Amino acid sequence: MKHSDPVQGRSLSRRRLLASAATVAAAGLVPRWAMAEDAVANLASDPRRPQFHLLPAKNWMNDPNGPVYFNGKYHMFCQFNPLAAVWGDMSWYHSESPDMLHWTHLPLAMTPTPDSPDSFGCFSGSAIKVGKRVYQVYTGTKLTTPDLATIRDGENKIQESQCIAWSDDPALVKWTKLPEPIIPLPPPGMKITGFRDPSAWKQGDWYYMTVGSGEAEVGGCVLLYRTKKLDDPKSWEYLHKLTSGEWNGKKTANPCDDGEMWECPDFFALDGGHVLIYSTLGKVIWESGHLDEATMTFTKKKTGELDLGAFYAPKTQLDAKGRRILWGWIQEKRSDAEMKVAGWSGMMSLPRVLSLDKDGTLRIKSLPEATRLRGTELPYQETRAGILRTLPKATGEVLCTGGQDATMQLKMSSNQGELLQVTYEPDTHKVLVDGKEIGLEPTDLPSLHAYVDGSVIELIVSDRIGYTKRFYYPGSMAPDIEVHATGSTSVTLTGWKISPISKDRLTTPKFTI
Ligand code: FRU
Repeated sequence: MKHSDPVQGRSLSRRRLLASAATVAAAGLVPRWAMAEDAVANLASDPRRPQFHLLPAKNWMNDPNGPVYFNGKYHMFCQFNPLAAVWGDMSWYHSESPDMLHWTHLPLAMTPTPDSPDSFGCFSGSAIKVGKRVYQVYTGTKLTTPDLATIRDGENKIQESQCIAWSDDPALVKWTKLPEPIIPLPPPGMKITGFRDPSAWKQGDWYYMTVGSGEAEVGGCVLLYRTKKLDDPKSWEYLHKLTSGEWNGKKTANPCDDGEMWECPDFFALDGGHVLIYSTLGKVIWESGHLDEATMTFTKKKTGELDLGAFYAPKTQLDAKGRRILWGWIQEKRSDAEMKVAGWSGMMSLPRVLSLDKDGTLRIKSLPEATRLRGTELPYQETRAGILRTLPKATGEVLCTGGQDATMQLKMSSNQGELLQVTYEPDTHKVLVDGKEIGLEPTDLPSLHAYVDGSVIELIVSDRIGYTKRFYYPGSMAPDIEVHATGSTSVTLTGWKISPISKDRLTTPKFTI
């Protein structure tokens, strides 16, 4: 298994973490987010750190957690290690924004509580608003005995249970955890491969909740629960598997790598249908279909991948206008040692707006308001073969379009070599992105919309599928990136500089806790 595999990469760190978690617990220390001034200076001048993507001021982050629009503000949480730039000591980072683009860091929302169901870590979860209160359902993890373990990671036995916390604070800074889990154990009789990442919603008189799970040598699944009282552990009732998949038959150490475990399910109504999103096999899958509300059974009609690149464990929310917004964790593709030297790891994707076509095709567009970040147009040059625009210091936005009959090719390169290559083939109506094939729908036009930010390219192909790519370079200067579009005469290439969202690369000006 390649080290760059996100899940496997993290399970290695996860094992190492146990030693440090035990030390922290023995010393009675509560992890705190303390930051040395010199670390701030290095992070602020690292050209690989993005200038208009959200990320904590330092250290490791992964999955978006419980994004919610509340009291006129967007709140984003995510998995965060307060102590290092590798996975561990899972806590909830928190920030707020007026527009989903500009962010202010806030104090951590949750850290592990010693001798509690989340003493090993507060894993991923989701928000649900009830009047003036916001609840977060999340997975608490603690070290346990083999019979109670839901994660068997080599030597380590970890118990996952579904927990709840809430905030009555208009700014969502103060959080209270229920000391006991709302769902302590998975349904009996399952050869469980994992039990985590709850997501809750209200429907009629009931609150429903999905949990990511799976059975050994059977396949990943989504478990469905319901209650009338969210924070009452006695009232939760297990219904059935909302949907399930198949094991790929090739046993791996981590059940997420062979389809036996599905992580981070998110299930929601969209444009007259229902959509399920989950992460497994290092991929993010969507399924669209019909929910029978009487039996709470989901029939899948169409499926696909959300993003073919470094994008995992996404989560959605409704925005102020009622649009369904998708956020994903943009992973690093470098080693633990390199991440430790850098002092940071991971970033949040830009917000993407989801919609559903009548035939069940999921559409993905970048947030229209992100055009507010645009600065001047990128330098333009006509070459013998086509159009060239240059993105100074690896920052900017480009849009390349053509008709269905057009041939179209887009290349991005720097002094380090080629970064990205995309081709549209009119005969087959397919797009090839770095050799990966995307079959377009009959009505799709070839269009490539990309944001480039320090060390990431976030590309959306034909408003249908993402391709998130990381690139790295040595030194203290980001290279200029040449974007070259060639093909039929109808091919257009426009592009803009993008304004940073803070004056350094720390997302916001200095924060205090
Ligand atoms: C997905 C995931 C989740 C889990 C979290 C732990 O990336 O493995 O299933 O809750 O990360 O950090």
